[in-house]
Amino acid sequence: MTLSLRGVGRRTPDAPDHWLFQNVDLQMDAGAFVAIRGESGRGKSTLLHLIAGLERKDAGQVLLCGQDMDSLDDNGRTLLRRQKIGFVFQAFHLLPQLSARENIALPWRLNALPHKDLPGRIAALAERLGITHRLEALPRELSGGEQQRVAVARALVHRPSLLLADEPTGSLDPERSEEVLSLLAALAAEAQAAVLMVTHSGRAASLAGQCLELRRSGLHPL
Ligand SMILES: Nc1ncnc2c1ncn2[C@@H]1O[C@H](COP(=O)(O)OP(=O)(O)OP(=O)(O)O)[C@@H](O)[C@H]1O
Ligand SMILES: [Mg+2]
Repeated sequence: MTLSLRGVGRRTPDAPDHWLFQNVDLQMDAGAFVAIRGESGRGKSTLLHLIAGLERKDAGQVLLCGQDMDSLDDNGRTLLRRQKIGFVFQAFHLLPQLSARENIALPWRLNALPHKDLPGRIAALAERLGITHRLEALPRELSGGEQQRVAVARALVHRPSLLLADEPTGSLDPERSEEVLSLLAALAAEAQAAVLMVTHSGRAASLAGQCLELRRSGLHPL
């Protein structure tokens, strides 16, 4: 099992007597493609962050590739996240001083994967995402849609087991959006990864195998 959430809950940051959400249960294997919707402020981004161990949870258990994140120390969690997870952040979070190419290369380098295979891997992803001609640009020289595609490439470069994508097509025109979605769908279809995507797009949701709504009481089928 790639991802298992059991009774996961998070309290509201400024009103800790209240739950932002609780009783979140989800099981995902390689090949699963799940879309999550929910009202703004319900905690969708928070849920993805806490799955990755980037924010705390207040209840429940997160198992990533069979490992309980809570049983690991900070180093162990960082290592597991680095190897197993790709994350497309809602606000991209590209490093401003690095070119698109160097941003995409980061997870590859952090995981000490073979240098000789990196150029080919970046070229293939860039081609697929239509950013080949922008690889030497700095993030501030890129449009929002280009930054988003660089963020998608960075999340995928090291072939993570779990892709967490927070509105990964939010800044893209319909054509680019379709390309990114088909790339994510192909990843899942080829069982290369489990894909968990937050989206407001009906098209995105329709491509996913399962569409769920995050409510205060947990995840509910749509
Ligand atoms: N750093 C923070 N400090 C305090 N409150 C926060 C912080 N980050 C998020 N929140 C609050 O937590 C709640 C959940 O936020 P989150 O960003 O997870 O929602 P979301 O469902 O992703 O919303 P959106 O659809 O607008 O992206 C919101 O009420 C938000 O204001
Ligand atoms: Mg959000």
